[in-house]
Amino acid sequence: MTRAAQVPKSGPREAHPEHLGHVIFIAAAAAMGGFLFGYDSAVINGAVEAIRDRYDIGSAALAQVIAIALIGCAIGAATAGRIADRIGRIRCMQISAVLFIVSAVGSALPFALYDLAFWRIVGGFAIGMASVIGPAYIAEVAPAAYRGRLGSFQQAAIVIGIAVSQLVNWAILNAADGDQRGNLMGLEAWQVMLGVMVIPAILYGLLSFAIPESPRYLISAGKETRAREVLAEVEGKDVDLDARVREIEHAMKSEHKSTFRDLLGGSFFFRPIVWIGIGLSVFQQFVGINVAFYYSSTLWQSVGVDPTESFFYSFTTSIINIVGTVIAMIFVDRIGRRPLALIGSVGMVLGLALEAWAFSFDLVDGKLPATQGWVALIAAHVFVLFFALSWGVVVWVFLGEMFPNKIRAAALGVAASAQWIANWAITASFPSLADWNLSLTYVIYTVFAALSIPFVLKFVTETKGMALEEMG
Ligand code: GLC
Repeated sequence: MTRAAQVPKSGPREAHPEHLGHVIFIAAAAAMGGFLFGYDSAVINGAVEAIRDRYDIGSAALAQVIAIALIGCAIGAATAGRIADRIGRIRCMQISAVLFIVSAVGSALPFALYDLAFWRIVGGFAIGMASVIGPAYIAEVAPAAYRGRLGSFQQAAIVIGIAVSQLVNWAILNAADGDQRGNLMGLEAWQVMLGVMVIPAILYGLLSFAIPESPRYLISAGKETRAREVLAEVEGKDVDLDARVREIEHAMKSEHKSTFRDLLGGSFFFRPIVWIGIGLSVFQQFVGINVAFYYSSTLWQSVGVDPTESFFYSFTTSIINIVGTVIAMIFVDRIGRRPLALIGSVGMVLGLALEAWAFSFDLVDGKLPATQGWVALIAAHVFVLFFALSWGVVVWVFLGEMFPNKIRAAALGVAASAQWIANWAITASFPSLADWNLSLTYVIYTVFAALSIPFVLKFVTETKGMALEEMG
């Protein structure tokens, strides 16, 4: 990311307080997609055992049904950028909302295992779209001085979505007397868990009608008058609108077009900036964050926690995740994205290395010795806290803002798609790796956390406070 040399400057980039309130509403509405992302990817945890039982399938087939949603996510993310460039950011949100609704109803009322898998792919496609459109849209409407904080709404919504789905699953399970297949309103409990998602999905769809199209998209689509109105709405009327429009137009003219080929650096390889986005995505996943969320009960049981109590511990992890996210939101525009990422990497190395140490001890009666059990428990929380206050927020903020206007949506789609594939690789490989050697599995995650430090130092440039027109 080098600063573009001749971008005309339009004066102060601070937003007026009264506009800030409005921009906060806009960013929060767009972040509903993040809520669904978190909710949908975590909701399946509560339904897994019932699906295994109802369809009488083994672990391998079950893992496929679960992991297949992540492939849907990768395809959704890869396509979203191009859809958003063609028909706009808001339309893209609306398509994603409709797919969320259809998938919630479909997976709550499946005829058989194959159509359940199909609806999970459709839901995954919607998550993938939401994971691209939220950060891109928020970065494009946010005034530069608050862009990091507003961009972190996406991750905040993801972590709240994860926590709410755990709570809702718990409440549904209790109402069905602790039986995932227990009867609830004529359905089995797990069906209700998957169906409830229709409520936030409808809300997401409705909210998308209440927020304006991105001014950068409007300018690229030749709708300058409307772009002016939106800029006045989000940045204030006393901002020099002529200069802002010229600035955005100028930056776009000097940029490449947003076809897939233009993401390439003139050869078969992507432009360096796209590779940096892919690198950020892959490191975010290769530290093993989703093992902490998707397989938490297995981990807790190995340190001696009763299976029925594992919900409580998984929820504690979610709360720590939310606390870390709030810390990141406070600091992302103050100390910047890069220092946060580096602090987080150091903390993650510490937490992961301690987990690797604790899991290197032999289990006695299926449990770790007491001291190592405690170390594993605390270390897992240290890891989640440091992830949340750094890479969780920072990667989504970076991906939203680091690319030049013309390739933003498409490049973000490629980077987010890489993230879903990396998520799938870690999630699908964990059970076999853990059977092979749990301690060494954590050594692998530790090595990736350590490698993320030189990666950030060498390749990632600070974007705090810069105008989007200066990226490139
Ligand atoms: C980030 C990751 C996502 C993970 C979440 C956990 O959003 O992209 O994969 O589940 O953080 O908080």
